[in-house]
Amino acid sequence: MQSEGGGAGHGARHAAIIMDGNGRWAKRNRLPRAMGHYRGVEAVRRTVRAAGALGLECLTLYAFSSENWKRPEEEISDLMGLMRKFIASDLPEFIANGVRLKIIGDYTVLEPDIVAMLDDALARTANGQRTVAVALNYGSQQEIARAAAKAAQAGEITPESISAHLDTADLPPLDLLIRTSGEVRLSNFLLWQAAYAEMWFTDVLWPDFMPAHLEEALNSFAGRERRFGGR
Ligand code: IPE
Ligand code: IPE
Ligand code: MG
Repeated sequence: MQSEGGGAGHGARHAAIIMDGNGRWAKRNRLPRAMGHYRGVEAVRRTVRAAGALGLECLTLYAFSSENWKRPEEEISDLMGLMRKFIASDLPEFIANGVRLKIIGDYTVLEPDIVAMLDDALARTANGQRTVAVALNYGSQQEIARAAAKAAQAGEITPESISAHLDTADLPPLDLLIRTSGEVRLSNFLLWQAAYAEMWFTDVLWPDFMPAHLEEALNSFAGRERRFGGR
């Protein structure tokens, strides 16, 4: 059932997830850290499917932050390897299901073959009706600084003009921000966009995140009173 303002019964159009806890999941299961990331990709796959089933217009996923370059080279290389595999294996499903891929953050500094794969995936999913936005080499402060510089160049620095130059300019307003693994912080993710977003935190580690958790978060969202400063 579609509600009046568009979107599904829960009323959310755009949810974003800080997918955290892969390392702790691996540790808890006495597995190599890379296995935590591997199982994290499986959680991504089922969450993308669940977002479609639950009627979200947009799902934004924090996959690699501009600060994650501080990690050991081997871990970064594992993450990039998983990225390659995921694009290759899941692009057909994105296309078949009408999912438009979007990247936020400066992905052009990733390894050239990944940039090429992403550009190809962006082109081939451009007509999708719903969006999965993946944050890669993403930092919100950097995004805001870039947007402010562009707004200044255009001669108008206002909240509206800055918003219009953010990487997320073409996405619906952020309704719900989810973080897994028990940390209660934003870690440089969607700082501007979260101004009036609802927050949902869970102790569940990302590789254990299930469609039922997304549904629980959306049910929680549906029960909240949003005021946007009014009364
Ligand atoms: C999230 O899991 C994945 C990325 C940041 C790429 P972590 O690797 O941060 O896992 P924890 O927080 O160490 O458990
Ligand atoms: C945030 O998680 C980044 C991603 C989930 C990609 P981190 O694990 O990097 O965040 P901190 O360092 O705990 O704040
Ligand atoms: Mg972490």
